[in-house]
Amino acid sequence: MRTTVGIIGGGPAGLLLARLLHRAGIDCVVLESRDRAYVERRQRAGILEQGTVDVLRECGAGGRLDREGLPHQGIELRFEGRGHRVDLPSATGGKSVMVYAQTEIVKDLIALQLEEPGAPPLLFEAEALAIEKPDSGAPVIRFRHQGREQTLSCDYVAGCDGFHGIARRAIPADRVRAFEHTYPYSWLGVLADVAPSCEELIYARHERGFALHSMRSPHVSRLYLQVPGGTDPDDWSHDRIWDELATRFALDGDWTLERGPITATSVTPMRSFVQEPMRHGRLFLAGDAAHIVPPAGAKGLNLAVSDVVTMARALIHHQETGSAELLDGYSRTCLRRVWQAERFSYFMTDTLHRRPDESPFEDRERIARLERIASSPTASAELAENYVGLPLS
Ligand code: FAD
Ligand code: DHB
Repeated sequence: MRTTVGIIGGGPAGLLLARLLHRAGIDCVVLESRDRAYVERRQRAGILEQGTVDVLRECGAGGRLDREGLPHQGIELRFEGRGHRVDLPSATGGKSVMVYAQTEIVKDLIALQLEEPGAPPLLFEAEALAIEKPDSGAPVIRFRHQGREQTLSCDYVAGCDGFHGIARRAIPADRVRAFEHTYPYSWLGVLADVAPSCEELIYARHERGFALHSMRSPHVSRLYLQVPGGTDPDDWSHDRIWDELATRFALDGDWTLERGPITATSVTPMRSFVQEPMRHGRLFLAGDAAHIVPPAGAKGLNLAVSDVVTMARALIHHQETGSAELLDGYSRTCLRRVWQAERFSYFMTDTLHRRPDESPFEDRERIARLERIASSPTASAELAENYVGLPLS
């Protein structure tokens, strides 16, 4: 098989890249190791930056998002028994965010790719095994599909295969540098069939740890609890989860956390990771394949989107003008934004969580950070500007 851009991974990065390239008339093939049902069910991110929403609309994937997505104009920071609202549009020239789950974006992009006549091939249960000669003019992806080993010859390879994929590892170790930070806690994620107890997301810092109240629809709540690293979700009964959430969200005033049937739980470790550069010859990395942020800043999915927008622009520019300038600048352009997201995600994580070895001084200092955001329009605007997403450069 041969194509112009061989895309490894059918997560949000790979699927959106295929869509952007197809609309510009550039051939591509997407190889996804899992089956369709698995990819469509994987519970992950929920907050879309304004720029992500704009890109999805522009490429024709905004129909259901506009009907079912929940636009949010603010978030609440809850600490010391009080809530403080951060208004997003007033500090950002009118920008806001949209609550629309990653699962739904993936379903929308898959449906478009499988149903639209002439759309690029999307192969499920097609596992990339190796990328041969990524630094030559003619890289080849070896993959297994329907029990048979096959090859995909390409002009370019897009490594969109997530943190555990093969693309990042196809770059020789002496050509890259990795930057990593791990955190001594994880998130227990909960999906519950109950109407959200709030209109906007609540990020809570409590002496027992962080909690986040998010949502998936007017009838489904998405909640997260800080738990020790290595926690087994089965150790948490549903009653224990609701009791702990109620404790961490408790307000001095009147507020009740509504309970309902929990339909899924999972544990996610927290990690910050960047591999530089994001390009080796004709192999370009995008999304979690190149970097990971801890989820408290809601940046992971949005960064994957900005990477592939940058990659698509560079490939289209090359096709239209013959100039490799944007391709050559790909890694530098992406990394500027990636490090801003790493900084913000680190700040949100460090400010909102309780470390097991935290000193009383560190606890008070983090509360002072939150007091500052709650009391200063400048500090609040700084948070808002990062939360809605920095502009694409
Ligand atoms: P992925 O979504 O990981 O997609 C990669 C795809 O590549 C997968 O479909 C995988 O099956 C496929 N693949 C892997 N190896 C191969 C191979 N060899 N051959 C072919 N295909 C392959 N972000 C937030 O902002 N908020 C959150 O709450 C949040 N929760 C998360 C929870 C978990 C458990 C994880 C892992 C991530 C979470 N994230 C969250 C981050 C966000 O979901 C990711 O940043 C986003 O999924 C990145 O998209 P991607 O397309 O780069 O990678
Ligand atoms: C969600 C996840 C996040 O990490 C976040 O910061 C906000 C919302 C969510 O899954 O809804």
